[in-house]
Amino acid sequence: MVDSNERRVAIVTGASRGIGAEIARTLARHGKHVVLMSRDQGRLQAVKTEIESQLGAGLATVLACDVSDGAALDEAIGRAYKDLGRVDVLVNNAGITRDNLLLRMSDAEFDEVIRTNLRSAFVACRAALRPMMRAKWGRIINISSVAGLVGNAGQSNYAAAKAGLIGLTKSIAKEMASKNITANVVAPGFIQTDMTEVLPAPVKEMALQATPLKRFGQAGEVAAAVAYLASDEAGFTTGQVLTVDGGMTMC
Ligand code: NAI
Repeated sequence: MVDSNERRVAIVTGASRGIGAEIARTLARHGKHVVLMSRDQGRLQAVKTEIESQLGAGLATVLACDVSDGAALDEAIGRAYKDLGRVDVLVNNAGITRDNLLLRMSDAEFDEVIRTNLRSAFVACRAALRPMMRAKWGRIINISSVAGLVGNAGQSNYAAAKAGLIGLTKSIAKEMASKNITANVVAPGFIQTDMTEVLPAPVKEMALQATPLKRFGQAGEVAAAVAYLASDEAGFTTGQVLTVDGGMTMC
């Protein structure tokens, strides 16, 4: 059994910027030791420095890794467990878009999105569940999207991956309930980050019109939902999809 007085360890993929970096900052503020994962060592180091300058030294670990490389991801999570002695929370947040209309979409565009956004979550969950089962406590949080709930023209690859995350999560929730491990999904709507910054103005305007709260979301609003699902207080919530979308879907 792990020592319950130690800080819990939370692995966050795609933590170099945007929603992932904000999730890492928020979980650190909520008392977790955060393992920052993405490909960009320099950016991860900057997030670590920022967290530690605000909250104290030794609260974050950088692990550069390409999550689309299953063997590397499996090894990175194994290393986090070996070095830190526990893995309590896993947030699969890393994601990409390769938008195209289905008739024009290449096999490569489809496969790259599935490998990065969905297969990575399967690999990371499998690796992280072993230490969680030993500890008889765990929290898996997968970052999906409203596109995974209602689809989106030009995003069949992305929507398929994000819908796949929901099925993956619900299955894990059922398999792991007896081990005191919960698995939930957070499905953001339109959030202001680098990913959405590059979208054309008419696309942004359409998203705004489809959002009853009539504004875009902030990364911190997604991170707050993740922090709740990672907490002790969320222990009776599993297999759920929590949308953070300004009312866009309501389903
Ligand atoms: P972003 O593009 O700003 O950040 C994505 C993060 O994933 C970066 O840290 C990047 O380095 C990492 N990443 C991408 N490919 C990787 C790979 N192969 N290996 C390791 N790391 C990799 O995106 P943003 O907006 O912060 O989104 C985060 C998550 O939230 C994504 O899964 C995205 O699909 C999802 N989301 C975002 C929405 C938005 O409006 N921004 C809406 C719905 C879902």
